[in-house]
Amino acid sequence: MPTAVSLFSGCGGSDLGLAEAGYDVIMANDVMPYAADFYRCNLPDTDYKLCDIREMISFPKADLLVGCYPCQGFSEGGARDAARPINYLYREFDRALRYIKPKAFIVENVSGMTRANNASLLKNQIVRFRLAGYRVQHKILDAIDFGVPQRRRRLFFVGIRSDIDFKFKFPDGWDGTRRLPGSRTIREALTGMPMWPEEDTYDRQPFHWYYLSRNRRKEWDEASATVVAHSRHVGLHPVSPPLKKEGPDRWRFLRDEPARRFTYQECSRLQGFPHGISFPETGGLKMRYRIIGNAVPPPVFAAVASSLSVAVS
Ligand SMILES: C[S@@+](CC[C@H](N)C(=O)[O-])C[C@H]1O[C@@H](n2cnc3c(N)ncnc32)[C@H](O)[C@@H]1O
Repeated sequence: MPTAVSLFSGCGGSDLGLAEAGYDVIMANDVMPYAADFYRCNLPDTDYKLCDIREMISFPKADLLVGCYPCQGFSEGGARDAARPINYLYREFDRALRYIKPKAFIVENVSGMTRANNASLLKNQIVRFRLAGYRVQHKILDAIDFGVPQRRRRLFFVGIRSDIDFKFKFPDGWDGTRRLPGSRTIREALTGMPMWPEEDTYDRQPFHWYYLSRNRRKEWDEASATVVAHSRHVGLHPVSPPLKKEGPDRWRFLRDEPARRFTYQECSRLQGFPHGISFPETGGLKMRYRIIGNAVPPPVFAAVASSLSVAVS
């Protein structure tokens, strides 16, 4: 079984994908306590270090290193300020890469990193990884192509250590062989879930003007829009009445009927998490949405990691 070390592991969306692809994730790290609780509950065999990455002095050796460092400065929904210190945590990933010297690595980040104003940061990462001794490729993948009922475009970097004779090619999509449940629509993903679940399972704040500045509702037989981490901005469940465009950046409900956001459990299904996952009691509603919205859909990570299995074995 190839081994993997995971950084910026959050609640383990990426690492559930690694497990699915046949990797033994020997160590994970994040700074967020509820993400650690969730991870330890659902992936109990991994040694999860709950601390700031900058405090970690050493790392175990492994065949694969993965990391999804934070992206606020690059993100469509974030402040889009490339100068923020949080955007430089990739240097910590680079430090671990040079320490572990794995056969390969995978990084996931927001697609906004490829925008022109982030060009120097993107280039800096690629140059660092090359100087660390890796051949690097990057590509934007959309979760919808991997059996996940959601449009979610994310940038993936894959690096192969220069002494490894392996020509990497990004997967085009789900090859249908994995065990995780695959679906393409909201209806398929939410089959069997109640239309009106308990009220403490979804964010019930009012639909403020910003929320209604765009269409937050998709139909049952469509894929979901990108699942976000901020509970207030989570999309509408299709049981809600349709929205009608009233003007520039202004939408309103067509009918005066009850409407609701997706629950955090529904978000986890729309992110392609396995049906049996558990949410520990230690975290409140906002935190549950946050760890799920931050996660990499496990099936996407499984597909990328599977396509590396020859290189790391
Ligand atoms: C995009 S999320 C990772 C998602 C995760 N890979 C998953 O699939 O569930 C980025 C993570 O970086 C973590 N993070 C931010 N700053 C950190 C730091 N200084 N040290 C460790 N983790 C940090 C955040 O808590 C967050 O969980």
